[in-house]
Amino acid sequence: MITSIKNKIIYILSNKTSTEIRKHYKITGIIIIVISILSIGFFVYQIGGTKEAYLHLMYIPVIFSGFLFGPKGGLVAGILGGLVLGPFMPHNVANQIPQETIIWIYRTVFFVIIGIINGGLLSFLNLHNNILHNTLNKMSNDYGQFVKTINTMVEKKDEYTGDHCKRVAYNAYLIGQELEFSQTKNHLLYWTGFLHDIGKIGIPESILLKPGKLDEKEYEVIKKHPKIGFKILKSLSKEFKQIAKGVRHHHEHWDGSGYPDGVSNNKIHEFGRIIFVVDVFEALTSNRPYREPMGKEKALNYIKENKTSYFDPEIVSIFEDLYIKNKIIIQENPRLELELPINYNLELIWNNITEFNFLDHGIIQNDFLLNIMEKQINKIKKYN
Ligand SMILES: [Fe+2]
Repeated sequence: MITSIKNKIIYILSNKTSTEIRKHYKITGIIIIVISILSIGFFVYQIGGTKEAYLHLMYIPVIFSGFLFGPKGGLVAGILGGLVLGPFMPHNVANQIPQETIIWIYRTVFFVIIGIINGGLLSFLNLHNNILHNTLNKMSNDYGQFVKTINTMVEKKDEYTGDHCKRVAYNAYLIGQELEFSQTKNHLLYWTGFLHDIGKIGIPESILLKPGKLDEKEYEVIKKHPKIGFKILKSLSKEFKQIAKGVRHHHEHWDGSGYPDGVSNNKIHEFGRIIFVVDVFEALTSNRPYREPMGKEKALNYIKENKTSYFDPEIVSIFEDLYIKNKIIIQENPRLELELPINYNLELIWNNITEFNFLDHGIIQNDFLLNIMEKQINKIKKYN
């Protein structure tokens, strides 16, 4: 929810740079504050002068200005508010009794103090938020890097030909787009594709790299890898739960004849059903040390022939459509788009998974967050 609001706002502002956004907010903020101060002055005059308690409404724009523009904003709004309720504002309008000078000066000083303190506290809070955000980003990058490293080890171990996992992830991501997944969900799907075989880290190389056909016992060992992957990912972070579930089900069959749980139809996790189609296609069309790649038409036919037995028919139809449109990436024709999904950016993935919302934190006086915002805008633009 928060993420979608955030993204909508970014969409609205997406034709602006961070400087333009800042300028836009500054001008709007200044207009609102000035209008509020003048309106309250007018209201106080109409109501009968400063003898009434309504003059305390002036604290609202003063505090708001401190919030938006920091201590300087609080100072300027405090002085302006004090002057509007100052020398030209009668104590009693009806009887035309003026205020004592010392009263409005004191009042102005109070406005200024409150404005400065409020702005100062907000700036302090923003500073802490920046530090926190920096730390979170660094953590997410380190963490993601760690997961990627494990995956690279698996790829090496399994002698996958370069970028197999990236291609699976990318093709799965295309299907997610067709299914109109939210960005967050599609990020998770992308990572499920990327990490689907991570459990192979727990399979002996003698089995994994065996050139010939596996015997029954060896096959049983191989069949453990979705469950191992599930356990690894689940233990890494609770945020990886959906990814872990998808990984667990990436060898389940539509008719229930797959492994490790033998579940069927919609009981198979949606991510698992998608990954299974793209993984099989990718595996068949890729070069392996022990066999030549299958032709892509032949591989597609294999998948089509087995829809309703192995594969989710709806996913197969979407996959076929994407294939016909030449969108599916295969080893033979990797194309540049392979690098396009922003999902590969760990910082953004993490932000979306954790729904960290930078718009909560006083963006106007915060260059750091505005830069992040601009980065996000550019990334989102790449989507479309
Ligand atoms: Fe697998």
